[in-house]
Amino acid sequence: MSQDAELQEAREQIEELRKQLETAAAKITDEHKLAQIGRLLASIVHEINTPIGSILSNNQVVARSLELLQKALASPQPAALEKAKEIVETCLSLTAIDKIACERISEVIRGLKTFSRVDSTELRKVDLNEQIQNTLKLTHGEFRRRIVVETDFGDIPPVECHPHILNQVFLNIVVNAGQAIEGEGKIVIRTRREGDCVHISISDTGRGIRPEDGPKIFAGGFTTKAVGVGTGLGLSISRKIIEETHRGTIDFESQVGVGTTFHIRIPIEQERRTGAD
Ligand SMILES: Nc1ncnc2c1ncn2[C@@H]1O[C@H](COP(=O)(O)OP(=O)(O)OP(=O)(O)O)[C@@H](O)[C@H]1O
Ligand SMILES: [Mg+2]
Repeated sequence: MSQDAELQEAREQIEELRKQLETAAAKITDEHKLAQIGRLLASIVHEINTPIGSILSNNQVVARSLELLQKALASPQPAALEKAKEIVETCLSLTAIDKIACERISEVIRGLKTFSRVDSTELRKVDLNEQIQNTLKLTHGEFRRRIVVETDFGDIPPVECHPHILNQVFLNIVVNAGQAIEGEGKIVIRTRREGDCVHISISDTGRGIRPEDGPKIFAGGFTTKAVGVGTGLGLSISRKIIEETHRGTIDFESQVGVGTTFHIRIPIEQERRTGAD
């Protein structure tokens, strides 16, 4: 075989390996997302089950009330009419409660939907404040009472991005923040426009990152969490999504015993890339 042909063959093999590596990386990203949602599942189910329970019990009361109403309407007595009015009022207040319960369910579903898109190549212009708010629906049940989550959303323009994978980054960092807080604490999420970028900061009042761990946290496989709690892949995947996919930046500042802030900066418009990119 000529040298040229050998070179060509080697190039093709490298290209083939590169593609395999890319597919494997995408698979790891997807699996991490599913595992993270899986770990939150018990609290997500609870968030949905509670309002469903209230709708079901209201439904029984409404059904019984309607039977009584039927009887009351069959009687021409003025007292029966009074009773009928009362029953209608009860039913109206129960439907108002049901409406709130349905809204709570659809909020959680909206949170889940932001993660269910599979069209990973799609670039869209989205309101990141809304995306973050939807992502927070998934941790709401988990943090309930223990952690206060505050949002300080600025007036930011729509950002061109791959929202479903960006949400995976927000979820990972918010979950990390929650896991860093022992007992009660606070997470603050702030968004601001910064020139051609949007700056998102996620601060927690958790245990902080030891200076000697700082350089390691973005490396794949580094975790200080127990087996089954963390795989150590979250931040390495997050960095890839922010820096490679969106050409943004991600960094952090931390003080042991005080807390940690992660800073993410994403360009408002993605550069048009060449076909080889
Ligand atoms: N907000 C934070 N406060 C304190 N330590 C943090 C924080 N965020 C990350 N870390 C540290 O960085 C490590 C790596 O985080 P990363 O998200 O990559 O993995 P993980 O959370 O351990 O596992 P996984 O994301 O797979 O569940 C964590 O184990 C933790 O030690
Ligand atoms: Mg993590």
